[in-house]
Amino acid sequence: MKPNRKFEDKSSVDLERAEDQLRENEDRYRTLFDLAPVAVYSCDASGVIQNYNNRAAELWGRKPKRGDTDERFCGSFKLYRPDGSFMPHEQCPMDDVLSGKVPGTHDAEVHIERPDGSRIIVIVNIAALKDDRGEITGAINCFYDVTERRQAEEALRESVTERVRAEKALRENEVQLRLANDKLESVVQKRTASLRRLSAKLMRSQDEEHRRIARNLHDSLGQYLANVKMNLDVLSRSAAPNQTELLSAALESVERSIAETRTLSCLLHPPLLDEVGFASAARWFTDEFAKRSGIDVQLDLPDGIDRLPELTEIALFRILQESLTNVHRHSGSSSVEIGLTVTENQALLNVRDFGRGMPARLRQGSDLNGSHVGVGLSGMRERVTDLGGRFDIESNSHGTAIVVALPLAGQPSARVTPQSKQSREEFCGLKVAVRVSGNQITG
Ligand SMILES: Nc1ncnc2c1ncn2[C@@H]1O[C@H](COP(=O)(O)OP(=O)(O)O)[C@@H](O)[C@H]1O
Ligand SMILES: [Mg+2]
Repeated sequence: MKPNRKFEDKSSVDLERAEDQLRENEDRYRTLFDLAPVAVYSCDASGVIQNYNNRAAELWGRKPKRGDTDERFCGSFKLYRPDGSFMPHEQCPMDDVLSGKVPGTHDAEVHIERPDGSRIIVIVNIAALKDDRGEITGAINCFYDVTERRQAEEALRESVTERVRAEKALRENEVQLRLANDKLESVVQKRTASLRRLSAKLMRSQDEEHRRIARNLHDSLGQYLANVKMNLDVLSRSAAPNQTELLSAALESVERSIAETRTLSCLLHPPLLDEVGFASAARWFTDEFAKRSGIDVQLDLPDGIDRLPELTEIALFRILQESLTNVHRHSGSSSVEIGLTVTENQALLNVRDFGRGMPARLRQGSDLNGSHVGVGLSGMRERVTDLGGRFDIESNSHGTAIVVALPLAGQPSARVTPQSKQSREEFCGLKVAVRVSGNQITG
């Protein structure tokens, strides 16, 4: 049979046309492949890289040789998983697809290390290529760089975490602040209440003191002066037969009045304290106290102590006065021991009785050194605190001790003045020898 020439000519023309079309399509595909902003590469069934575009070479940081059987599955230098562990090329997603383990890969994260050591994060999408029989003949991988996006996300996450942490710290601080504030408020309230109590007590005790002075004035001075007036009245009226007796009685009353005035005045503020210091004033006061109360007083003062700072001397004297008054009023003790120790830095006063001790109510817990005691003890504490000293009360059923430590550094000493002699003799009427030069005192 003769071949159909006409038919042969037509089919070769069609073939040529189809080949032209194919070439054209391939060129288009090639251009698209090279220009695409996404990295693309393809492998054959064994994983050998067949083709890749510019972007893939950029992201890998290298240009592997196409068709090189040593370059399989991926053209990168090294690969890592998102958890940071090393990923050999033959375990990368491309291998999973080529081996048929997975039909394709969608948005998987892979970390690429370039030859210069820099790392990037990429998202990969892989599709298998199959022939007519459905056999895998290769695969195409499209991947893109998300490093900056991830860094921004990470920074955002960190800043959110930081903000949450800061807000938590702020809330905690607020709570702490509120607690501290509440605590402070309650301390202020307690202090205010105790100050109010103290000032009320102070006023009451002032009233009491005034009443006592008034009674003293009325009972002693008043009586003596009334006596003197009566005697003088009688004397002025006539030539009384017992003129001499009346006169001497009047004189005696006047003398007693003078002595009483001295005592009262000295008790209110002993001029001795200003003139010759605490030691002499303490000796005078304890003598008077022993006489008036019948309580045996042991006074242990260091020999020849210098004058102490003025405020310290006043504080020590007032504390001694109040402590002895308390011993007399509350302790029931028949004796009291007073000791003073003076060092370079402090003056230590100790007033100890051997009485019944303070009531259990005051001895319990911190009450003894707290603010719920009487105005006498509170006043002592106030004075001591004011001078930066320490005030302690020790009390049990065998007696009570008041222990006071006052700092001495940095305060000016009280000085003996030339007028001292005169006022000394005028007031307390005690024989006091003073060696002004050495500030040595004997009472
Ligand atoms: N030496 C003491 N012995 C026993 N109790 C004392 C002594 N000193 C003080 N107290 C007790 O402490 C209380 C408070 O004393 P204080 O503050 O001086 O106030 P007041 O003497 O006006 O009562 C006294 O009421 C008394 O119960
Ligand atoms: Mg008292």
